Amino acid sequence: MSLTFPLHANPHPSSDAEVAAVLAAPGFGQHFTDHMAVAIWTKGQGWHSDEIRPYGPFQLDPAAAVLHYAQEIFEGMKAYRHADGSIWLFRPERNAERLQASADRLMLPQLPVEDYLTACVELVKADARWTPTMDGEQSLYLRPFMFASEVFLGVRAAQEVTFAVIASPAGPYFAGGVKPINIWVTSEYSRAGVGGTGAAKCGGNYASSLIAQYQGYEHDCSQVMFIEPSEKDRLEELGGMNIMLITADGRLITPELTGTILEGVTRDSILDIAPELGLTPEARKVPPSELFARINSGEIVEAFACGTAAVITPVGSFRTGDATYTLQGGIERTLGIRNRILDIQYGRVPDTRGWMQRVI
Ligand code: COI
Repeated sequence: MSLTFPLHANPHPSSDAEVAAVLAAPGFGQHFTDHMAVAIWTKGQGWHSDEIRPYGPFQLDPAAAVLHYAQEIFEGMKAYRHADGSIWLFRPERNAERLQASADRLMLPQLPVEDYLTACVELVKADARWTPTMDGEQSLYLRPFMFASEVFLGVRAAQEVTFAVIASPAGPYFAGGVKPINIWVTSEYSRAGVGGTGAAKCGGNYASSLIAQYQGYEHDCSQVMFIEPSEKDRLEELGGMNIMLITADGRLITPELTGTILEGVTRDSILDIAPELGLTPEARKVPPSELFARINSGEIVEAFACGTAAVITPVGSFRTGDATYTLQGGIERTLGIRNRILDIQYGRVPDTRGWMQRVI
């Protein structure tokens, strides 16, 4: 039977003035709405206890398995308010399917796509007033996640699991907005190996990226880029988003999906629309030596980070311990792709691919 996520309204919601103050400067991931969606899975019983309830802390036993063995996965999505006031999700079924793939890898239970979508839609409906009005890059960021809430210290797949969705009004992910960022290229740390969890969206991947990310901060870089760890012969992805390169002759190059990088929904959407913008998409192995040589020769002219949170953020340079490789082509092509994606998401151009799903 499908889940319905009935609303148990927050008896103490934020005032309109409080919501307005948050929407005036939402930042990223700092403010949360009045409600959250929650459902519990128990072995033998399946999913149950689904509801939209007041946002607030979980009662988590210190022996909850997730705190010890990191059996946890998550998603990132956004709700966009269009000029007529309506609110829409962008390809939400892709995120639902990716959560299922992540669940497979982390031995978590399958949440049907329909139930995932109901949780997101009912939460957005309950907290619609938290969705920023169309202005710049603002949206309501949705963070669906699932974790092992069973109280048990044995190492095995949890027999009680919690699924939840929280929502957070969001502006640009990077404090500088769409200004070019520098990327730290680490050869010391790796993100994922063959057979590991690189293609799953699990918290552990992000925890293990932090040490390299912090090295990057010391070199004035806002993101780290990982290289495949055994052969060190291909780019993988950034700490929290995918990477794309643009050549002077109109190629849009990105690392192919090898099972070690995340199958980004934004990545996939950009590859799909690239031909309309005069770019030829190429998802393939990209050796770091090619990246550096072709930036120096002027063949690779632009690069950008892409993801739900990052949207499309231009890259100014790649830095290693020894050298800096600076992109010389400006950011015009990157902004062209960025605007096309945002135009679809904010309903400023017709959605010819059926990517948008109306909530309200
Ligand atoms: C997203 O783009 O939604 C993500 O989940 C990346 C996150 C680590 C900020």
